[in-house]
Amino acid sequence: MASIAVCPGSFDPITYGHLDIIRRGARVFEKVYVVVLNNSAKNPLFTVEERINLIREVTKEIPNVVVDEFSGLLVDYAKSVNATAILRGLRAVSDFEYEMQITSMNRYLNDHVETFFMMTNNQYSFLSSSIVKEAAKFHGNITALVPPIVEKELKKKYNK
Ligand code: PNS
Repeated sequence: MASIAVCPGSFDPITYGHLDIIRRGARVFEKVYVVVLNNSAKNPLFTVEERINLIREVTKEIPNVVVDEFSGLLVDYAKSVNATAILRGLRAVSDFEYEMQITSMNRYLNDHVETFFMMTNNQYSFLSSSIVKEAAKFHGNITALVPPIVEKELKKKYNK
C-alpha cells in the first residue's frame, strides 16, 4: 500500500515553516498532497488561486508533492486521493490544544485516516502566516521567514 499523506492548511501565505514540514514529510511519505482548505475562522489575504500558485512555485523541485485545493471536509479530500495520513506541523505547546481538537474531529469523521505531527525546526517555531503578514504590513524585514516570491507578493499586497 502506498503511503500517501495530505498536508492541509490555509497557507495564507506559505512560509519557510510550512515548507520545512512539506520537505521533511516528502522524505517520509511516498506522495504528499499539499491542500489549501478553507478555515472558517480566518479571513484570507490571498485568494485560493494565489496561494496555490505560490505553493506550486516553492515546491516545484519536490517531485512527490502535489498541490491542490478543496472546499469541504479534509477527511473527504483524504479519501478522494486514497491518503491514509494527515500531516501537520507542531511549533509549540500552544499549538497542542487546537491540533488535538481538529485531530479528534477528523478521527470522529473518519477513523481510517491517521494524523501525524512533525516538530517544526526550532528556527521556525515562532513563525506563522499571521505574524509574517503583520510584519509585512508594517514593512518589517521578512526575508528569512518566507521564500523570495512570497515576500514579493506580500509587498505587492501591502503597497496597494
Ligand atoms: O493552517 P490552518 O488554518 O491551521 O489549517 C486548518 C485547516 C484548514 C486544516 C482546517 O480548518 C480544516 O481541515 N478545514 C477543512 C474543514 C474540515 O475538515 N473541518 C473539520 C476538521 S476541523
